[in-house]
Amino acid sequence: MTTSAIERNNPAILIVGASRGLGQAMGAEFAGRGWRVLGTVRAPGTPLHGLAAEHPDADAVEVETLDMTDPDQILAVRDRLSGRAFDIVFVNGGVANRTPQATLAEVSAEEFVHVMATNVLGVMRAEEAFGPLTRPGGVIGVMSSGQGSVANNANGVNDLYRASKAALNQAMASYAGRHAGEGPALVLMAPGWIRTDLGGANAPFGVEEAMPQIVDVLIAQQGETGLRYLDRNGRAVPW
Ligand SMILES: NC(=O)c1ccc[n+]([C@@H]2O[C@H](COP(=O)([O-])OP(=O)(O)OC[C@H]3O[C@@H](n4cnc5c(N)ncnc54)[C@H](OP(=O)(O)O)[C@@H]3O)[C@@H](O)[C@H]2O)c1
Repeated sequence: MTTSAIERNNPAILIVGASRGLGQAMGAEFAGRGWRVLGTVRAPGTPLHGLAAEHPDADAVEVETLDMTDPDQILAVRDRLSGRAFDIVFVNGGVANRTPQATLAEVSAEEFVHVMATNVLGVMRAEEAFGPLTRPGGVIGVMSSGQGSVANNANGVNDLYRASKAALNQAMASYAGRHAGEGPALVLMAPGWIRTDLGGANAPFGVEEAMPQIVDVLIAQQGETGLRYLDRNGRAVPW
């Protein structure tokens, strides 16, 4: 990692889980707007590496290695980023359950633990570790889902995934309560159903049309305080 990224005045974002899909697209959108991007991945050779390699400014897109489910890796990355500051810290990574039609009673214990350990425990550990790197007036964001809304759950399906995102929302509400009256702004993002490996080919929206809106919403939250559960149009999602 170079120091030039620290010294430059451009705003900066840390994206946890940026290898591909929405995380990589978020990195590309912010980089395209002149932001400095530090994204984390779990493996070499990802689309984020491609973005970093193709960007004309060699320091514009940096890549760190992190599996959110490994607390030692979180601590190691936090130590490496000591002294860095970001205008936005966004924890994006997440997984879906492999058996969307299964009720919670039907999923295996292994799958339950995998989804919950990633989407709730891993995300909140990353959020707690990297949130303090956010500059005053900045934003801490977490990728939730409209499927995390209890109020909007009329017909089930994706029971485990829904439960994980609802638990994540609840955990962020607890975090917000502990930091009441302080900045940065806290955002739970419900991006809509978008074509990615996780969203699948039948999703109605592509990342190209959705990501600029998501980024607009995050940028608009700068200077705010408190927790908001927002869709990519900036509308409040019922809890
Ligand atoms: N697409 C949608 O329709 C939609 C809708 C609502 C919410 N979301 C949420 O948006 C986020 C991104 O989803 P996506 O659609 O972009 O899915 P995706 O293409 O499958 O990408 C998932 C991302 O999460 C990362 N990840 C998974 N487990 C991780 C871990 N243990 N540690 C670090 N990173 C991890 C993946 O990294 P690897 O490449 O290493 O696997 C990848 O970068 C998720 O939180 C998802 O729940 C998506």
